[in-house]
Amino acid sequence: ELEKMARRGALIVFEGCDRVGKSTQCQRLVEALKTSGRQAESLSFPNRDTAIGKLINNYLNKKIELENHSIHLLFAANRWEMVPQMEKLLKSGTSLIVDRYAFSGVAYTAAKKTAEVDWCKWPDIGLPTPDVVFYLSLSPEAAQQRSMYGNERYEKAEFQAEVERQFQAMKDESWETIDASRSVDSIHREVLETSLRAIEENSHKDILPLWK
Ligand code: TMP
Ligand code: MG
Repeated sequence: ELEKMARRGALIVFEGCDRVGKSTQCQRLVEALKTSGRQAESLSFPNRDTAIGKLINNYLNKKIELENHSIHLLFAANRWEMVPQMEKLLKSGTSLIVDRYAFSGVAYTAAKKTAEVDWCKWPDIGLPTPDVVFYLSLSPEAAQQRSMYGNERYEKAEFQAEVERQFQAMKDESWETIDASRSVDSIHREVLETSLRAIEENSHKDILPLWK
């Protein structure tokens, strides 16, 4: 009987500071899942293609200024506007590999010290809860050595170090913490193994609301 029930896809999230290798790992994972015959799609936040995403993009490129609470709510709105499509895909059996999620929302705003963590979480309460959160962790020293940051807002070593502290304070035992100084291949192998297990284990489970 179980075999006849529709299997849902897994919601797999990558988190971490800028330049830790999240996008590379997302891409590698989607490719590997597709190669193995599974349905998978990638998604990244902010999604800069929507009307809200364009505002966010202008903010990140320093073309416009926005008040800290206000930009925080736009990042959350940019996730909520994708929820109907995400749920549809998950229900149809497609796993979603997501580059950043609500945890980035909280860590980056909380790092500014103008809003408390509880306030930061509130607008994202009720989003689909990820089945797996991969946290790519790199010491601020290693991050600085790795490569130069770009010109976007937040791409400053001192701020990134505070974001890393916020992520560390937020993470719980359910997160898969990965030492991002390891090679792309070795991280990918670990990520793939954990993801395949999560797809299998969660295929008949409900998707619960985040932070409820
Ligand atoms: P990206 O580098 O992954 O495209 O993300 C752009 C920047 O936006 C990055 O510095 C992290 C930041 N960010 C937030 O401040 N809040 C959020 O909710 C998200 C998703 C990203
Ligand atoms: Mg970036």
